[in-house]
Amino acid sequence: TKHKIAVIAGDGIGQEVIPEGLRAVDAAAKKFGIEIEYTHFDWAHCGYYAEHGKMMPDDWFDQLKGFEAIFFGAVGWPATVPDHVSLRGSLLKFRRDFDLYVNLRPVRLMPGVPCPLAGRKPGDIDFYVVRENTEGEYSSIGGRMYEGTDREIVIQESVFTRHGVDRILKFAYDLAQSRPKKHLTSATKSNGIAITMPYWDERVEAMGKQYGDVKTDKYHIDILTAHFVLNPQRFDVVVAPNLFGDILSDLGPACAGTIGIAPSANLNPDRKLPSLFEPVHGSAPDIAGKNIANPVATIWSGAMMLDFLGNGNPKYKQAHDAILAAIEKVLVEGPKTPDLGGSGDTTSVGKAIAAAI
Ligand code: NAI
Ligand code: MG
Repeated sequence: TKHKIAVIAGDGIGQEVIPEGLRAVDAAAKKFGIEIEYTHFDWAHCGYYAEHGKMMPDDWFDQLKGFEAIFFGAVGWPATVPDHVSLRGSLLKFRRDFDLYVNLRPVRLMPGVPCPLAGRKPGDIDFYVVRENTEGEYSSIGGRMYEGTDREIVIQESVFTRHGVDRILKFAYDLAQSRPKKHLTSATKSNGIAITMPYWDERVEAMGKQYGDVKTDKYHIDILTAHFVLNPQRFDVVVAPNLFGDILSDLGPACAGTIGIAPSANLNPDRKLPSLFEPVHGSAPDIAGKNIANPVATIWSGAMMLDFLGNGNPKYKQAHDAILAAIEKVLVEGPKTPDLGGSGDTTSVGKAIAAAI
């Protein structure tokens, strides 16, 4: 079967890194006999907004819903369109309407990448952050009273549903069970947030009973952030509700080096709607158009996409691993982009990785 992938490069360096992502995915797909059909969409970028007064056509959902995955660059060009308009008008709609309830970010110290934490070497840091991406603290339930007066009151509710909590925990436990360490860490704050967080802890405990071979522990979010920096070797799979996950999923990749290499997946594991794969970084207007953006984050995201498309098929896992091995080789041997202290460019790094695959 041919996999159907929607490609949206978006703004700024999205346009430069996506071709390199496709180059690597193509090389790995060819090597392992995987067939992919790409459809490119020239919207969800700020140029489209300038012309049409919106980020996407009205039928965007119908145009995209039949794809298995969306390969996404970045969106945002603050000089012409405010960020909340560009982001809410595109990426956030995908996350919400495609019910992409898992935000998955690998945190791995790669060879050849200077680690901001002293004394760490590749192998010391290798874990995943699994963020709940649809509920929790990011609700729009609440309001203001007595606005503008001394009695002003502002309230915003958190929403934790059994369905929403259990599905993210199941995903995280399945992931932990598939890894050698079989270790799940839950981010909580049940000592201070007295209603929702004890509920989260309860559901973790209940789900953990179904995964007897997975070791579970939990940390309150404050000390957990300290452990990310001081003891990153402690972690294997870290699962967190939306707000804590948002923080950890930026902190984790930052602990393992530059934003230019950090990948992410926004998953709907039910597979009835497309999942989305994108670098963690944005459109980087400060370096856009110069062909110096690091393409590794996007190439790695492409590897995650292949793994997801395989849904357990070992051939796809091998394709993923082949891309990762090629990334590691080129991170050590070069060429490297300027963010890693090199003088290579986007295209030369992309081509070197494709050749190594
Ligand atoms: P950014 O991630 O675009 O850039 C932050 C810094 O990292 C910049 O100095 C940039 O040059 C550098 N950088 C980023 N990616 C790089 C790469 N691949 N290689 C080398 N250096 C890289 O974040 P910023 O500047 O806060 O936002 C710029 C625009 O991107 C805004 O419009 C923002 O809304 C949007 N954005 C979009 C995201 C998405 O599409 N998922 C995520 C984050 C920001
Ligand atoms: Mg964030």
